[in-house]
Amino acid sequence: MNVAKIATTRYTTKAFDPHKRIGSAQLEQIRTLLRFSPSSTNSQPWHFIIAGSDEGKARVAIATATGPYSANQPKVLNASHVVVLCARTELTDAYLEHVMEQEENDGRCKTAEAKVATRKGRAFYANLHRELDDTQHWMEKQVYIALGTLLLGAAALEIDATPIEGFDRAALDEALGLRQRGLTAVVLAALGYHSADDFNAELPKSRLPAEEIFTFL
Ligand SMILES: Cc1cc2nc3c(=O)[nH]c(=O)nc-3n(C[C@H](O)[C@H](O)[C@H](O)COP(=O)(O)O)c2cc1C
Repeated sequence: MNVAKIATTRYTTKAFDPHKRIGSAQLEQIRTLLRFSPSSTNSQPWHFIIAGSDEGKARVAIATATGPYSANQPKVLNASHVVVLCARTELTDAYLEHVMEQEENDGRCKTAEAKVATRKGRAFYANLHRELDDTQHWMEKQVYIALGTLLLGAAALEIDATPIEGFDRAALDEALGLRQRGLTAVVLAALGYHSADDFNAELPKSRLPAEEIFTFL
């Protein structure tokens, strides 16, 4: 695998073929990409809603009905699947303990001391962000790592994708009842296969020059 080739040939799809569906084996890999995405202190402060039915995509598309967001509505409706990447709205001690229990069940606490140290380390960062009053921002940054993992992984699976920030977040939270579940929508990813009228498929990629964005020490 040439990962640089995947990075330079993947692109944001602007029009999907509504008749082409992602197969179940590939969807399983997409779910694995999201679930195994790394997060600070393994906090995993996320939830992923995957809309694959017409009804499900229509519910997500409510958030792309107005203003400049409407340019994204056909992408949401014509994609095979749309992932709503959500962040939690709270990072409670009970949730941190839930993560701790999972790690213990998965065999990551080889000794009682290791468990204490892991709990202490995670609490340090959770408390740091509480003091900085940026816990929500911190959690949403973790969600964006999942988005990046998803975009590169989808391209490796030869699945086209559109990351979408252009949607009405409050409207989507309302349409999917997210706030009641302690969640808020952060970003969308439409997944599928591009159509013949996807103008972006033919355009060259554009990035700032390497000399400008890298410093080597
Ligand atoms: C977080 C994020 C949000 C984006 N939101 C939108 C969007 O709402 N609609 C859209 O068509 N493209 C969206 N894009 C696509 C970017 O415009 C695109 O990634 C950028 O121009 C680079 O092009 P490339 O993805 O084809 O390499 C978004 C990209 C990212 C990473």
